[in-house]
Formats: sequence, C-alpha cells, structure tokens
Amino acid sequence: MITSNLPVSLRVALFLSLSVTAWSTRRQPRCFSKHSSPSPPSIPKAIPSDLFSLLGSKSQSSTVNPLIAAELKSCLKFLVPSSPSGIGVDTWPSQPCARRQLGFTKFPHPSDTEKDELIWWPPEPVLELARLAVDSGGDPAAIQRVLDPTIIPVPDAEGSKEDRCQLTRTPYGRRFFSEELNSYLKFLFEIIVARGPSIGLNVTLSRFDLFHGHLFLAVDSGRLGILFHAREYPAYDKEVFPYNMGFCQIGSNVTYDDSMNLRNILWLAPLPDNSTKSWAAPGVLVVLDARPDGIIYRDLIPEYVNFARTIYEDDLGEVALDVNYLNVGPEPPNYQIFLC
Ligand SMILES: *[C@@H]1O[C@H](CO)[C@@H](O)[C@H](O)[C@H]1NC(C)=O
Ligand SMILES: *[C@@H]1O[C@H](CO)[C@@H](O)[C@H](O)[C@H]1NC(C)=O
Ligand SMILES: *[C@@H]1O[C@H](CO)[C@@H](O)[C@H](O)[C@H]1NC(C)=O
Repeated sequence: MITSNLPVSLRVALFLSLSVTAWSTRRQPRCFSKHSSPSPPSIPKAIPSDLFSLLGSKSQSSTVNPLIAAELKSCLKFLVPSSPSGIGVDTWPSQPCARRQLGFTKFPHPSDTEKDELIWWPPEPVLELARLAVDSGGDPAAIQRVLDPTIIPVPDAEGSKEDRCQLTRTPYGRRFFSEELNSYLKFLFEIIVARGPSIGLNVTLSRFDLFHGHLFLAVDSGRLGILFHAREYPAYDKEVFPYNMGFCQIGSNVTYDDSMNLRNILWLAPLPDNSTKSWAAPGVLVVLDARPDGIIYRDLIPEYVNFARTIYEDDLGEVALDVNYLNVGPEPPNYQIFLC
C-alpha cells in the first residue's frame, strides 16, 4: 500500500517526482528495425482478469491471449508448485482431498508436502469462505459478516507507536469467528517467509517489511484472494530511495534494491465451480515478479508508483479487509492477526 496511506498531497508530490523517472525510463519497443512495418505487432495490454483466468480452471486459462499468457507466466514465481499438476491442466482431483482433511488443530506442524496441500486445498472453513465469496457475487459484506464483532485495539508493534506510526487502517482490528481461519492467515505469512528465499525473496515479518495483505474478491469471478505487500517501508536514502513516506518509515532497515520487484505476493483460494459443489481450480501462492522489463510492471503497476512496484488491491477486485500480522511482543516475539 505504499502510497495509499499517505495524505493526498504526498501522493501528488510522489506522483510528480516519480513521473520524472517514468519519463526517462519509459520502455522502448524491444525490437525496432527500419525494415519492420511502422507498427510492429505488440503484446496487448494485460488486465488483472488475465492473471486470474490464467490461474483459474483449464477452460478459463485457455481464454487468455497466448502472448499475454506467455509473458505473464514468465513473471510468476510460485511459492508452492503451481498446482497439483501445472497451470491450466485439469487432471487435479476435482474435490479437495477426500482422503484427509488437513487442519491446524490436528496438524499444528505440517510437513512441506502438507504445506503444499494446505495451499491447494485449504481446511474446510477456508473453502467455505471461498465459496461464500463467489456465491455472494463478489460482495465484500459477505466476508465481513463472518467476523467476530469483538473489537481488539491494535497494540504497539515493534516500537511503532513511539514513532507515531499507525500501521493499520484503523487503530483497532477484529478476527474471524473461526480459529481455523485465523490460523490459516498466520500460516500464509509464515509460508511466504519460509519459501521466499527459494525464488530470491528474503523477507522478514517486520513492520517495515511484510506485515500486511489485502483480502479481496476478484473482479469478474468473486474468487477470494489476498494481495500481500512485502518491503512496505524502504529506508529513505538520498541515492536509491529519496522518498519520504512519513512516520512509519522512520528506523526502517529495509534496503531499496532489486528485491522490490518481488514485493507483490498473491494468494488465491481454490475456485469453486459455480454450478456444482465441486472445485474448478486449486489454491495458488505466487510472487508476481514486477521486474521492469516484464508485463506485470508494464501493465499492472500504475505508472506513478512504478518506482515502488506496487500493485493496487483495488485493481484486483473488491477489498473486504486488510490482514495485518504484527509482532506485538516485544520479547519474546508474539505475532497476532488483526483484521482491519
Ligand atoms: C537470502 O538469505 C540467504 C541466507 O541468509 C543468503 O544466503 C542469500 O544470499 C540471500 N538472498 C538474497 C537474494 O538476498
Ligand atoms: C530488520 O529488523 C527486523 C526486526 O528488528 C529483523 O528481524 C530483520 O532481520 C532486520 N532485517 C535486516 C535486513 O537487517
Ligand atoms: C458460472 O461461471 C461461468 C463461467 O465462469 C459463467 O459464465 C456463468 O454465468 C456462471 N453462472 C452463474 C450462475 O453464476
């Protein structure tokens, strides 16, 4: 959410200063030759629905323009194998494991294989929420209704209060009624940290780096998803990151470098089949590589934040709530979920 928390004036200032960069780094056509036709065939602009279709059922992924699909695939870095049998292949079991229902109450320490399965076919309460999202026609209120109404004040996280930094949208949060759902959210943060290094993303659960995601219902389908933002507050640096992001940036130990390309991490719940009680696609956990020569940077990142590589949750669907995972320790570390 790099700029959306900032006052409008700051967003505009950031826009103005960043647009200078944008002008000078605007991508040139890749293969220009005097002999080619005046307008060489170019890849059409990708939209978020293309991404969701690609990560959906086989019939959906086959509807994506092949040029877009190829470019998108080159920017997907899966934290669990893309599906039990690959993108867009329909040979996975259409029902989540009838053989065994994984859950955190029964399996508090899943093995690596069990973790993959927990992404493909999450525990029952997550599946119920996924179906509710689609059945409601993508209505965020349907998700908000399954929250426990108890209001929980957000305590200080790692000295944020001292710096006058409010990390969350509101100073209080809530939790889901279902403990299994809350545990699943924790599991998502933990698996991102554990598996990130396998694709070149070393991420820490800290108030400057990974502490939040945005739970949304995807455009068109209503599919349940979370867009996580790592590297939220890079340290101010005259040379590499000359942007003042306010109180929450103070004391940051996050360095602005190429790992910023990997800061958008997408979880998608399994996709319910809308006509039957079965499932059209398993869950997904993938890093969206926003390297500057890729299609995600080009088409899915608004130009005025391309320096920060931020994909906006509002562009992906209807946002129901923010998921925060904060260390309210201080010693020993004590990470808690706050839904705001
Ligand atoms: C990530 O951390 C590991 C271990 O600390 C280190 O060996 C590796 O070089 C780091 N990778 C990146 C991309 O920074
Ligand atoms: C930054 O600080 C956090 C929390 O104090 C720590 O866990 C993390 O390892 C530090 N990261 C770096 C890159 O130094
Ligand atoms: C079910 O999904 C298909 C394709 O995703 C769509 O065309 C159809 O309208 C949906 N049906 C209902 C009842 O929502």
